Amino acid sequence: MRIFTKTKAAVVGALLASTSMVQAADVEVLHWWTSGGEAAALNVLKQDLEGQSVGWQDMPVAGGGGEQAMTVLRARVTAGNPPTAVQALGFDILDWANQGALANLNDVAAKEGWDEVVPDALKAFAKADGKWVSAPVNVHSTNWVWANKAVLDANGIAQPTNWDEFVSAVEALKAAGVTPIAHGGQAWQDATVFDAVAMGALGPDGYKAAFIDLDSETLGSDAMKTAFDRMAFIRDNVDDNFSGRDWNLATAMVINGEAGFQMMGDWAKGEFLNAGKVPGEDFLCFRFPGTAEQVTFNADQFMMFDQGGEVSTEQAALASAILSPSFQSAFNVVKGSVPARTDVSDADFDACGKQGMKDLAAAASSGNLFGSMAHGHAAPASVKNAVYDVVTAHFNGEYDSETAVQELVDAVDIAK
Ligand code: GAL
Repeated sequence: MRIFTKTKAAVVGALLASTSMVQAADVEVLHWWTSGGEAAALNVLKQDLEGQSVGWQDMPVAGGGGEQAMTVLRARVTAGNPPTAVQALGFDILDWANQGALANLNDVAAKEGWDEVVPDALKAFAKADGKWVSAPVNVHSTNWVWANKAVLDANGIAQPTNWDEFVSAVEALKAAGVTPIAHGGQAWQDATVFDAVAMGALGPDGYKAAFIDLDSETLGSDAMKTAFDRMAFIRDNVDDNFSGRDWNLATAMVINGEAGFQMMGDWAKGEFLNAGKVPGEDFLCFRFPGTAEQVTFNADQFMMFDQGGEVSTEQAALASAILSPSFQSAFNVVKGSVPARTDVSDADFDACGKQGMKDLAAAASSGNLFGSMAHGHAAPASVKNAVYDVVTAHFNGEYDSETAVQELVDAVDIAK
C-alpha cells in the first residue's frame, strides 16, 4: 500500500513537472540518483554539461533500483511527453528500443569510436539492431560486502572468504550485541542480496543456467534451496526495523558502527565516501564470500528518447559528455562504480575502485561476468519481477525454502 502511494505521488509529481517549460537548450534528465553519494556523482555530470552551456532540467524520482522511475517514465511516454534522457538498466533499454522510442546515436558513437572502447557486455544493452540507443555511464556490480572495520577489529573478526566464515563472523557480532547485517527490506534490495547469495550457492554455471537461460531444472535444484536457506540466515541476522528501509540508511548503519556488514552494490561506496570515510581504514569492501572470481554487473545508461527524428544538439552533447574518458574517471570515482570504457586509467580510483576495475577485467576474460538479475541485466522485467516476488515473500517468512524453490520454478515459467 505504502509503495503504491509513493509511486502514485511520484507519477503526479512527474506530470506536474512536465508541464513547466523546458528551455530549448536544456536536457531534461529522469533519474533515481537521490541519495547523498548518488547526488554528489550526478553533480559531476551536471557541471560538465553546464561547462558546455547545456542547461540541466532535473527530474529525480526517488527509489533505489529505479522501479518508481520506470513507472514515472511510462506515464510520461503515455502522455506523449518523454524526457530527453532517462537513466535505465539492461533489458529495459532494449524494451524501449524495440518499441521504436529511442533516438539513434550512431553519428556521435562513430565520431567518438564508442565501438572500440565500450565492452561487449554493455554493448549488448546499449545497441539495438546495430544502432546505439543509449550512453553507458558506468559498470556497477552487486556481489559486494561493505564492512565497518572498527566493528570487525573490536570483535576479532577477519574478512570472511567463504560462507562458513561469514556465518561465524555474523554469529560473533550477534553475540557481541551488534546488528550483524544492515538491510533495507524492499524487494529490489532483497533481490540484490540474492544475486550474490545465489552466485555463491549455485556457482557461475548454475547462476547462468538459472537466471540467464531460465532453466527449470537449475531453478528447482538443491543448490537453489541452499541459496534460500542462506537468505533465511541473513533474514535472522538483520535488525527489527529493516522493513521498508532505504538502502542508503542501511549503509549509514555500517558507516556509524551500528551494524557490521551490508551486502549491496558498489553504489554503497558512494555513501561511505560522501561521509568522508576511507577504504581500508574505516571500511572494507570485498566480494560476497564464495564469489571472489565472479562479477554480477549492472550498468547505468542514459537512453535518449526520440524527439522527432533527429538527435538534438543537447542529447548529442550529453551522450558525448558521458562517454568522455575524463568524465568516466571523475564520475565513477565518486559514484562507486567503474568506467564503462576499457581505456580509462585507474590512477584516480581508491582501493575498492581499483579492485572493481581489476575484477571486472578478469571476470570478463575468464567467462565469469554475468548480468545482475536484481538490476535487470540477466532477464527481462517480467522475469525479474517474478523473481522479486518469490525472493521477497520468502525473506518475509511467507514461504519456507522448499516452497520458495517451487514457487520460483513456477513463477519464472509463467513469466518467460
Ligand atoms: C541501481 C543503479 C545504481 C544505484 C542503485 C541505488 O539500480 O544502477 O546506480 O543508483 O540502483 O539507487
